[in-house]
Amino acid sequence: MTSEATTTAPERETWGKRSAFIIAAISSAIGLGNIWRFPGVAYENGGGAFLIPYLVAFLTAGLPILFLDYAIGHKYRAAPPLAFKRLNRKAEPLGWWQVGVSFLILTYYAVIIAWALGFVWFSFGRQWGDDAVGFFTGEYLQLASEPGVTFEFVPAVLVTLLIVWIAAIIVMSLGLRRGLDRANRITLPLLVIVFTIIVIYAMTLPGAWDGINQFFAPNFPALADPAVWLAAYGHIFFSFSIAFGIMLTYSSYMKRRSDLAGSGLVVAFANCGFEMLAGIGVFAALGFLAFTQGVHIDDLEGISGVALAFMTFPTLLSEMPGGTVMALLFFGSLVLAGFTSLLSIYQVVTGSLQDKTGWSNRRVAIVVGLAAGIPSVLLFGTTSGLNVLDVLDAFVNNIGVTGSAVAMLVLVAWVFRAVPGLRAHLNALSSLKLGPVWTIAVSVVTPVILAVILVRGVETYIVDGYGGFPTWFISVIGWGAIALLAVFSFAMSYRRYRRRDIDSFVPDEPEHLETQMNELVAEARDAREATAPRSTSGGTR
Ligand code: ALA
Repeated sequence: MTSEATTTAPERETWGKRSAFIIAAISSAIGLGNIWRFPGVAYENGGGAFLIPYLVAFLTAGLPILFLDYAIGHKYRAAPPLAFKRLNRKAEPLGWWQVGVSFLILTYYAVIIAWALGFVWFSFGRQWGDDAVGFFTGEYLQLASEPGVTFEFVPAVLVTLLIVWIAAIIVMSLGLRRGLDRANRITLPLLVIVFTIIVIYAMTLPGAWDGINQFFAPNFPALADPAVWLAAYGHIFFSFSIAFGIMLTYSSYMKRRSDLAGSGLVVAFANCGFEMLAGIGVFAALGFLAFTQGVHIDDLEGISGVALAFMTFPTLLSEMPGGTVMALLFFGSLVLAGFTSLLSIYQVVTGSLQDKTGWSNRRVAIVVGLAAGIPSVLLFGTTSGLNVLDVLDAFVNNIGVTGSAVAMLVLVAWVFRAVPGLRAHLNALSSLKLGPVWTIAVSVVTPVILAVILVRGVETYIVDGYGGFPTWFISVIGWGAIALLAVFSFAMSYRRYRRRDIDSFVPDEPEHLETQMNELVAEARDAREATAPRSTSGGTR
């Protein structure tokens, strides 16, 4: 296929340099999931025992699906709905399902960043005092005693939530290069510096090494517990930003000739590295808390998700020498990590709408910002916010994201038989060539494991409910969200794309890409060889 044939699709904005894409993908992957979710999940699932399932999940699901997301986004050069539609006309609803999942996550992800922003302010003088739990749920969130949707606003949450939404809308209005890329380039290095300081400091505290030992201590009997494996696979999707459209969307803005698998490896290992760093830092801090309370680290309470970040951490920051500075750095790093991940989730929705409507960056950013911001404020800026968030997060992640992953793998591998073509696309462009192991992973191993996880998850929610909440509340918020996703997916697929977006789009032929890549490599080699003798003779002269 000639390059003329491939230029018929409308040109879209690109990241420019490969580094911009890699920084964006790392900034997306490193988010709230790494800092508050991972250590909590690891703690709840046996500490050190969790690392083995985590690594297995990373290799069998994280990396293969990351490469699959890259291949689909890059080959079909669109956000999920149009990319899946170009893969096969019947697949568009899967793309909108991923957009719907991102939209729902967007509404509550913003509020966690808003709380962290509030806690940056509370860090001055550690305003939570001696009772961090009471402060967070009582004084700050004014949490309603009964589950429900109250629409009673909490001004302190509302202010920071509005700041987060306004900042996000402004950055997104500026587009990929002037908005997202700049935000990522400022935020990511700052985050790495701040978090490294926190971890090094935490490691010097009394009791810290007991905590770190707990994080790394292998606990082989726990490997027999299926729940530990389920938790590991569940966490990998959220943390890697895969299977709900983010990496697929981001890779669609990569230049046509880009090293896909090589970039994927950099992103994956950077995310894992940061996650390990967060694990070490948080477990060191928990070791210190256990030391000050005179208990074993296993006996600490409130070590998961929201409780870990906004109740347990403030408690230990109160005990810590230099706690005000450390509190500022910790909550600041949550804001930094969360904000760039929020932008990437936002881009799934804006990119998809832009593909469908052709609207400008500004228009689409404002429309999506209002569409997601208003329910975000109504549902989470109120006294019932925490309860709604808890249920919505569980259902969207465990059913919405896992369901999306299973559907994507089954459709792509078995119904549309697109894996060989996607592998050829990846291999034509990548320094690392994917072999049959990748094909087996995405066609057999991963879908089977994920299907088991999904069925078990659904079964548990049906039989046991969730988190002790009343059935009506789970039905409305949890199952209601899943039903809404299904309706949204098909309703959005009903409206047509412009004909040229589908009929005249022809993906690049792998052979053509491979030739181009080889030419580029040869050119670079020739240029190096041409300059090498001159620099040698210059050096010896
Ligand atoms: N990958 C992002 C996170 O970890 C969504 O928070």
